[in-house]
Amino acid sequence: MQLRDDILDFSPYSPGLSIDEIKEKYNLTNVIKMASNENPLGISPIVEEVLKKYASFGFRYPRSGNLELVKKIFKKFHIPEKNIVIGNGSDEIIDILIRIICTSYRDNVVVFDPSFSIYRIQAKFHGIEVKFVPLNNDFSFNFEQMLELIDSHTKMIFITNPDNPSGYTVLSEEIINFVDLVPSSVIVIVDEAYVEFCDDPEQVTCIKEVLKRDNLCVLRTFSKIYGLAGLRVGYGILPELLADYFYRVRLPFSVNILAERAAISVLDDENYVELTRNTIICGRRYLTDRLTSLGCYVYPSQANFIMFKPPMDANKVFEGLLKQGVIIRPLKSYGLKDYLRVSIGREDENRIFISALKKVLREE
Ligand SMILES: Cc1ncc(COP(=O)(O)O)c(C=O)c1O
Repeated sequence: MQLRDDILDFSPYSPGLSIDEIKEKYNLTNVIKMASNENPLGISPIVEEVLKKYASFGFRYPRSGNLELVKKIFKKFHIPEKNIVIGNGSDEIIDILIRIICTSYRDNVVVFDPSFSIYRIQAKFHGIEVKFVPLNNDFSFNFEQMLELIDSHTKMIFITNPDNPSGYTVLSEEIINFVDLVPSSVIVIVDEAYVEFCDDPEQVTCIKEVLKRDNLCVLRTFSKIYGLAGLRVGYGILPELLADYFYRVRLPFSVNILAERAAISVLDDENYVELTRNTIICGRRYLTDRLTSLGCYVYPSQANFIMFKPPMDANKVFEGLLKQGVIIRPLKSYGLKDYLRVSIGREDENRIFISALKKVLREE
């Protein structure tokens, strides 16, 4: 069998470990997962009811374009419908944007290093060169160097704000000042997967700026604050022309009926969203304090996770936690072997994590 030469060195995406895998491996009954930045409250009870109600529609095709969800987003965030796109997770939107903006084996995209892996993986898959701009030592963004790397074949730039895996966050003003210096032929994608967890999301989001420009897009997801990671829904706010072409090429039914219904209903579940936000903001304070007092170097985060450098070998800490049934995320695959990332959990999970970590550090 003959495959494309340039995909032969691809390896499967490495997701966080699953609860069942760890239960089996260490013979444990209780395992908590704080590895994939999911919503620690589980699914919204309103969504659960809606899923039961619409399960019987599973034999129908969804309506192409997910018009009801688009209308709901328009009502909720006052963004014109013609600028809104829906995808099978923001992952799908990233993939399609790369394919409709860049020409294979000619163009390049620029990303920070490290950054969310899907940008570079999908670019590589479509034969697009990826140029990397190292983050500063404190994980802040080096916009000057990013500007220097842009050349005549640069078509896209990805910025994650708040950033993954560091949690570093800039105000929208700083991004807009940067966008103003970027050539208008280069599209800047601001991935705001975690923006709802910021102390003041309004100061961070670039959503309103998209409507004033032709080269700015904002991506959002239902996987995090809305707790729908397993259903796969994301949305993007794009310049009108890009949104139009997005729908011309997107597979017509990529967002299924249940995912669409769940997304529509969770937008109305203000209690769930508020409770999630409070859980994350309190948990972030608690974990930052505790980790610091245990001798970890904690990077300031505005997201639903915290990156830290433990005072001993990070992999030993990761393994030691696993043995006690706590799954967090080692950052080796981001090129950060000395760092770990923990997703903020419920109060009880945060306490279990901290006492397991104390045990690992004591036993060193
Ligand atoms: C920065 C960033 N963007 C996008 C995503 C993917 O979101 P979705 O589940 O909507 O595909 C993630 C998931 O972890 C992420 O960290």
